[in-house]
Amino acid sequence: MANTLYIETVGCQMNVLDSELVVGSLRRKGYRLVDSATEADVILFNTCSVRQHAEDKIYSALGRLRGHIENHPEKVLGVLGCMAQKDQEIILKRAPHVDLVCGTGQLARVGELIDAARATGRPQMALSLGRKEGSKQEVSSSFESYDPPRDSAMRPTPFQAFVRVQIGCDKFCTYCIVPSTRGPEQSRHPDAIVDEARRLADEGCLEVTLLGQTVNSYRFHHGDGRVTRLSDLLARLDKIDGLLRVRFITSYPLDMTDDLLDAVRDLPKVVKYLHVPAQSGCDDVLARMKRGYTSGQYRDMMARVRDRCPAATVSSDFIVGFCGETDESFSRTMELTRESDFKNSYIFKYSPRPGTRAIDKFADDIPEETKKVRNNELLAVQNANSLRSHRAMVGREVTVLAEGLGKVAPREPGTLPQLTGRSMADHIVVFDAPERLIGAVVRARVTDATSFTLFAEVVEVESSAPARAAWAAPSSPSSRRLELPVS
Ligand code: SAH
Ligand code: SF4
Ligand code: F3S
Repeated sequence: MANTLYIETVGCQMNVLDSELVVGSLRRKGYRLVDSATEADVILFNTCSVRQHAEDKIYSALGRLRGHIENHPEKVLGVLGCMAQKDQEIILKRAPHVDLVCGTGQLARVGELIDAARATGRPQMALSLGRKEGSKQEVSSSFESYDPPRDSAMRPTPFQAFVRVQIGCDKFCTYCIVPSTRGPEQSRHPDAIVDEARRLADEGCLEVTLLGQTVNSYRFHHGDGRVTRLSDLLARLDKIDGLLRVRFITSYPLDMTDDLLDAVRDLPKVVKYLHVPAQSGCDDVLARMKRGYTSGQYRDMMARVRDRCPAATVSSDFIVGFCGETDESFSRTMELTRESDFKNSYIFKYSPRPGTRAIDKFADDIPEETKKVRNNELLAVQNANSLRSHRAMVGREVTVLAEGLGKVAPREPGTLPQLTGRSMADHIVVFDAPERLIGAVVRARVTDATSFTLFAEVVEVESSAPARAAWAAPSSPSSRRLELPVS
């Protein structure tokens, strides 16, 4: 049977999760993952449209496969996810050797589309976002509706899993393509989320990361007047036996409510880390971005975080070189970054996206060179801040979940390898320890720091790693990533 599969993933954590679910459903149909595209019977790209660069990478990967597919017409080449949703038939025009184009709302049908492409020899497209107009609770023909098997080999580590709590986005920031690629915002039923997290914990998963584009806007209306907020959901997840950590990304500044900050402060398993993109420190730019807040409101939010939940670290995203961003506007962003003590910031050069409001309304008037300079200047300020706050941690103890081997090459025989993990406040921590501690929680004393990393020594092992068998990791290769998560 022609059933080997290769999948490559770009984009954010949503896509990493989607790829896991696609692979889980295809395994159930008998597919087996292989490590190289040219060895596979089915080659899938799970794509991202957030910036031009992410799309260019996929189109050039598709171009490189053209000869191979033409020589092997029995193979199936598929484009999934956000770029499929955005470009639709344009993909077939630019890459006529593509056999299937499947948007973000139809990923549950990939197996069936592969079969149809083979049976008919014609390209298959499935692009409906599948939700009824005006209905917030209507479930899309996506994975939320049918409970696919999970696949721990597709995860960053077998003991850390993403769980979707929200799909889509209704914010329509003017620069952003995500509302068109992912459709309207919809919150999943809390019982489904808790069940999924419980099953993951039963399989040996130690950490879940709840995903939503504006995750803290999560609200489930039960229809009888009851509402479940993110803080309520966290309280339920915090009680799950076996689960050690619960994280959530990405937050929207105006929805950082006090009940949520109290939940982060008080619930022992909830990671003390908030990712709350500011995007800019200039009110004019924020208004053109249609972010819905001023820099003053963002500062007020930060003050409330520091006041109510002082243990939490905060990271941000910024877009530099957005339409009409003057030197003066950029200096406001520099000021906000200088004073905010973000743990880190993800900084992006504005990339105009066809299909967004910004591309119709404003000129992309900042030269590429200026975007580059601003990117570097903002990064330098952020790195200096990160270094200062990291250095202040030298001598303190942190609790680390060991995620895997560090970057430092194995040393001489007999010495310990370097492991890397995350603190409860999301700091990257590296330390020397035996490999069997991957998946364990250790207490470690910080001995040194750079702007990206804390170096530490293990003081005590708090909980040992679960037996590897419990992770139920299939022994086949996992998907490749072309790019790290954007946020
Ligand atoms: N939902 C998240 C972000 C999703 S996109 C949120 O609202 O915070 C991830 C990041 O990509 C954004 O925070 C933004 O900084 C960046 N981004 C989005 N569209 C972009 C564009 N057109 N050009 C450059 N960066 C962009
Ligand atoms: Fe895009 Fe995030 Fe704005 Fe939604 S809130 S439109 S995902 S940047
Ligand atoms: Fe990219 Fe889609 Fe995520 S556009 S950033 S993969 S939601």
